[in-house]
Amino acid sequence: MILPKVELHLHLEGAAPPAFIRGLAAEKKMDISGIFDERGDYAYGDFWDFLKVYEAATETLSTPEDYRRLTLAVLEESAASGVIYSETFISPDFCGGRDLGAWREYLHAIREAAELAERRDGITLRGIVTPIRHFGPEKAKEVALCAAETAGDWIVGFGLAGDEKTLKNKDFAWSFDAAREAGLRLTCHAGEWGGPESVRDAIRDLGVERIGHGVRAIEDLALVDEIAEKGIILEVCPGSNVALGLYADFRAHPIHALRERGVKVTVSTDDPPFFHTTMAREYQMLADAFEWDDGVFDEIARTSAKAAFCDEGTRDKILKKLEKADA
Ligand code: ADE
Ligand code: ZN
Repeated sequence: MILPKVELHLHLEGAAPPAFIRGLAAEKKMDISGIFDERGDYAYGDFWDFLKVYEAATETLSTPEDYRRLTLAVLEESAASGVIYSETFISPDFCGGRDLGAWREYLHAIREAAELAERRDGITLRGIVTPIRHFGPEKAKEVALCAAETAGDWIVGFGLAGDEKTLKNKDFAWSFDAAREAGLRLTCHAGEWGGPESVRDAIRDLGVERIGHGVRAIEDLALVDEIAEKGIILEVCPGSNVALGLYADFRAHPIHALRERGVKVTVSTDDPPFFHTTMAREYQMLADAFEWDDGVFDEIARTSAKAAFCDEGTRDKILKKLEKADA
């Protein structure tokens, strides 16, 4: 039986299948052929090139209807991998250019698609509003205001993605404070391209309870112990880290060592088609690399459900689904 999975770290645009983006480009007569290789997959070099290709692909997504179709396509793929609950990063940076009225329209379309997918595939989706770091703190403030206005039972979190080498975490403190005041739960990409100090800064300066990636904490064991003691959750995306060259392969990835030292790790795909992965593949690669059995994956799914930013009623439903699969 396919194991039920809970995914906490998924960029909606980053989950767009290349054929989907090519179709949109063709409809809109946009030439973005330069971002694909000869097989039709996304083509990029390093992480910074990946960000450029990501943003070029995202330019084809220019209406709420595009996002409605994208959300349906993404959730179909997630559900096929056994995902029963997912949290996705979405941004008014890409959805409506930080205009609140436009953002509400994009959000409405995404939510409509999520409701349809829930009825169709039994997968539940929630949103984490996520400014793009290299667009700068002023734009992040506008994003935070959009997030605060739409915070509730569906927009449940606030994050920060993009080029981790740009700016300090504390440059975004205003936005994180505004999001927290609006009742949003907080996460931040750190410890992916930045070292352990970026994880420390995110905890201290932004007050996050989850870290996107966070894997480079392993370079400072005192920090690893602090993360474990504070119960901070790492949204680990091993296939993403390997594809982007952070680690040579799954066996060299620190997820196993972090877990052994008591850190609450979860497993996600980040931007699955970019990294030729799915949640099912992540599980398979981890099982092969570390001899993890179903018991480990069951624990990880329950850790993820407990760390989800959704309301308690939704959490109970996910946990019940996981229990039922165990029985
Ligand atoms: N945006 C999409 N994927 C990302 C990643 N892995 N790190 C930072 N920003 C991202
Ligand atoms: Zn990410």
